[in-house]
Amino acid sequence: MASTPANITWHEGHVSRSERAQLLKQTGLTVWFTGLSASGKSTIASALEQHLLHRGVNAYRLDGDNIRFGLNKNLGFSPEDRAENIRRIAEVSLLFADSGTVAITSFISPYRADRDSARKLHADAGIPFVEVYADVPVSVAEERDPKGLYKKARAGEIPGFTGVSAPYEEPERPEVHIRTDRTTIAEAVQQIAAFLEARKLIF
Ligand code: PPS
Repeated sequence: MASTPANITWHEGHVSRSERAQLLKQTGLTVWFTGLSASGKSTIASALEQHLLHRGVNAYRLDGDNIRFGLNKNLGFSPEDRAENIRRIAEVSLLFADSGTVAITSFISPYRADRDSARKLHADAGIPFVEVYADVPVSVAEERDPKGLYKKARAGEIPGFTGVSAPYEEPERPEVHIRTDRTTIAEAVQQIAAFLEARKLIF
């Protein structure tokens, strides 16, 4: 449970969120991808970012592998480190979304409790949070194995690999559910964009 830091006071800026949205002509939000390694979440996230930018909506992607090169380079894959990874990314995506950007995160985020904390953080701040489940059977992800990680995990070279020797807890009520082995990338982007349009989150 986060506590309020001692001797720290929140400083309000001059521009309210609604004024910022009016000036920027867009709403900030977080699109939170979750799914197994090789589920296609990063590929779809990247295509979604491109789609949004091309229609004039500012969007920025935070990707699991990439963030682990910098901000989260001190974290591994224990349940505690994954929780801290997701906690930090929830905070960072909230900042991007608060700035009026569409933050697109693509992290395995295998634990429901961690994803729910990210959702709550956004809800408490009044910022929309859209969970996208990149759903694929482990067997298909393992066949794809673009980085050879499943092979290594099966050989015992990567301990605690999601879907093999570490759990993946499926989302119960994601806003968007994509079976990535039955959907093209373009269709997946369309599905997400249609959801965002229907909720008037993008125009
Ligand atoms: S998590 O679970 O959300 O903290 O993971 P994430 O930050 O998204 O990082 C996942 C990428 O790290 C690589 N990798 C592993 N994944 C799962 N389990 C283990 N043990 C592991 N070790 C390294 C892998 O490339 C993941 O990238 P994606 O894009 O998901 O394949």
